[in-house]
Amino acid sequence: MQTIQLADYYIRIGAIKSSLSTFLKQNVFSKIIVLTDENTQKYCLPLLKNALPIDYQTIMIPAGEPHKNLDTCQIIWNSLFEAGADRKSLLINLGGGVIGDMGGFCASTFKRGMPFLQIPTTLLSQVDASIGGKLGIDFGNVKNSIGMFGNPKTVLIDPNFLQTLPTREIRSGFAELFKHALIHNAKFSIQDLLNAYHQNQSNLAAIIGDSLLVKKHFVENDPFEKGIRKALNFGHTIGHAVESAALETHEPLLHGEAIAIGMICEAYLSYQMTRLPDADLDLIVNTFTKIYPKIDLQHFDYQQLIELMQQDKKNDGNAINFTLLKKIGSASINHVANEEQIIESLEFYNDQICKHIGR
Ligand SMILES: NC(=O)c1ccc[n+]([C@@H]2O[C@H](COP(=O)([O-])OP(=O)(O)OC[C@H]3O[C@@H](n4cnc5c(N)ncnc54)[C@H](O)[C@@H]3O)[C@@H](O)[C@H]2O)c1
Ligand SMILES: [Zn+2]
Repeated sequence: MQTIQLADYYIRIGAIKSSLSTFLKQNVFSKIIVLTDENTQKYCLPLLKNALPIDYQTIMIPAGEPHKNLDTCQIIWNSLFEAGADRKSLLINLGGGVIGDMGGFCASTFKRGMPFLQIPTTLLSQVDASIGGKLGIDFGNVKNSIGMFGNPKTVLIDPNFLQTLPTREIRSGFAELFKHALIHNAKFSIQDLLNAYHQNQSNLAAIIGDSLLVKKHFVENDPFEKGIRKALNFGHTIGHAVESAALETHEPLLHGEAIAIGMICEAYLSYQMTRLPDADLDLIVNTFTKIYPKIDLQHFDYQQLIELMQQDKKNDGNAINFTLLKKIGSASINHVANEEQIIESLEFYNDQICKHIGR
């Protein structure tokens, strides 16, 4: 069992039955309520059952990003009232980033705050969403626009959960692993990640641990994202806009798929603005176009994408703020790109995918 200690809580990586039993022996709660979605109820809850007390209760919500909204919060808050939860009860968020972000938000606002535990069950949530204290929901068509910072009691990660996770979701989670290798001198390289991706993820536990250390580095030095934590936003300014726009279509993209597009565009901006070397740009483009779906961005209205970028929480006023790369392994924060430069980066992405699909 690997333990990563943060300022206010710890993360344990290992068999869930043992880590959860230990946690529940060390902490006393008036009630235990497990929040699941329809998939984690079916695939993940059985792995927890022997570690939970017999009288635990569950709240199940529909799965997926379209349900990360105020309506679902009302279902959760109502269920917490019906279950008789109070500030000494524990909410266990068993699921991906949607459950973790929304469950943490609901727990933190219920009766001014009840404790919660994160048990992330997707690769994306294990390496990213479960650490760093960002909680919240989507509002209107703007992702994560209502929320807060708040920490769980602890985070328990078991890579075994990933065995039932669809391949597309695994690939989405890999985008955040790649991002960590791009923004920081991580223990693993882009090539190590490509190997792990193609070798059925056999050594994922070690990679998850190393990846969390990268996120910990940024989060601990800058918990409220005033400075260097912005490095973690690489690929996310354009990626979030594409993700939000795709949410409105019949073919929504997964978070990591949209971020992979964003990372190609923002690597191009880095090449233009922060002198990312040619070879690094090529490696990023080749890696991501090999793995991720090729989306023709002309399907989206570029102006709408720009407007979505302007609503990004990371901006000051209307200027669109980017985290760029100086080279692979080194991020540079607070760069403003204008509309023309951004559109050029979207066109660069389109040119690259055309090459790879032979158009
Ligand atoms: N708080 C943060 O710092 C942070 C960071 C990154 C992403 N996020 C958020 O995380 C969300 C995306 O997270 P996600 O990719 O985990 O999505 P998700 O929570 O929607 O999970 C993806 C799908 O996998 C299913 N699933 C989950 N675990 C499973 C398992 N073990 N076996 C089978 N199916 C399983 C879910 O039911 C869902 O259908 C986005 O809302 C994003 O904004 C937050
Ligand atoms: Zn992300």
